[in-house]
Amino acid sequence: MRQRTKITLLAAAAAVAIVAGGATVATAAERQEPVQPIQPAKVSNPAKVELGKKLFFDTRLSRSGGISCNSCHNLSTGGSDNLAASIGDRWQKGGINSPTVLNSSLNIAQFWDGRAKDLREQAGGPIANPAEMASTHEVAVATLQTIPGYVSEFKQVYGKNKITIDQVTDALAAFEETLVTPNARFDKWLLGDDKAINAQELRGYELFKSAGCVACHSGAAFGGNSFQKMGLVEPYKTVHTAQGRMDVTKTDQDRFMFKVPTLRNVELTYPYFHDGAANTLGEAVELMGRLQLGRTFTTQENADIVAFLKTLTGDQPDFKLPLLPPSGDKTPRLDPFAQAK
Ligand code: HEC
Ligand code: HEC
Repeated sequence: MRQRTKITLLAAAAAVAIVAGGATVATAAERQEPVQPIQPAKVSNPAKVELGKKLFFDTRLSRSGGISCNSCHNLSTGGSDNLAASIGDRWQKGGINSPTVLNSSLNIAQFWDGRAKDLREQAGGPIANPAEMASTHEVAVATLQTIPGYVSEFKQVYGKNKITIDQVTDALAAFEETLVTPNARFDKWLLGDDKAINAQELRGYELFKSAGCVACHSGAAFGGNSFQKMGLVEPYKTVHTAQGRMDVTKTDQDRFMFKVPTLRNVELTYPYFHDGAANTLGEAVELMGRLQLGRTFTTQENADIVAFLKTLTGDQPDFKLPLLPPSGDKTPRLDPFAQAK
């Protein structure tokens, strides 16, 4: 009984989060469901988005000249790297599983522990993170400033003669805001197309709701709008040292509270959980049922939920690979094998 009350409370909390997140209100044609379709991105400044796209693919933002945002958030593989922990500068093992950048604009905050309030604040992190791109903001900006194509493009977008780190993160964020994935089969169903999903997938969705998954995985992103405890009913066993929200708030009650990951495109973003411990969707669903809801699914139920989750794969980013401006004569020729300063 205690469990059930908890979940109801969670559902209420999730509902509040949806309202607070300002998610779109269902249109008349839409089914009345606790989840909403992904809206296509509205681009107000295409030149800024183009600039951000280049930066996203540009390895010159890293110390080694070998790592770009796309190395760990590969847009060919669902905006993640399909590794339990990313590979950073000097082959370093990243601290935590890399979340997808797809639909990340819908998150209440960025990172598993929510330590960055939005995409702009987040984007400065990896450039200067010694375990990721291992540069500094000063070096990255100075490097861009030696690349004539960037100098004119930044000037065109921001109207200033000098490139700043705020412009870099602003452009990256503007590009990331376009990385939404509308038109998933499930969204077509939500919008009224009965044939968009089959009977098994629909059963999976009904179970996803009735079992209580939707209490935490709600809104347009099926997650991303609250922090919840990993191991609510049964403790999660891991050797990983991340403490979740507690690493930010230093309050004991936030131990193991993680930002609920989006389930959009989840078929593409294995392995799962902050420690990358679940290799398959079946394993992730089994663990979620047991640890979050105290429920053991039958093989059939598990397969139904997995089938439903695969209907959440939407249109992936589709664009011409950006052509990066060539380095200038003064641009440092980066050496991945150079010793650390
Ligand atoms: C070496 C691998 C690596 C590189 C390079 C990298 N990231 Fe990440 N990214 C990660 C990891 C790992 C996390 C999760 C870190 C955490 O939560 O503590 C993350 C988190 C994020 C998030 C938060 C997503 C969410 O749901 O919370 C965004 C957005 C993001 N990165 C964008 C970028 C951008 C933009 C760049 C380039 C400037 C970049 N990343 C470079 C590995 C990387
Ligand atoms: C109490 C809140 C809560 C409930 C209920 C819940 N989840 Fe989760 N879910 C989370 C959190 C938090 C994580 C991240 C945990 C971590 O990485 O340590 C997560 C992670 C996941 C992941 C992995 C996503 C990824 O990218 O790593 C899947 C898949 C998932 N949940 C599916 C489900 C399903 C299916 C159900 C119902 C059986 C469910 N969840 C119920 C909170 C919840």
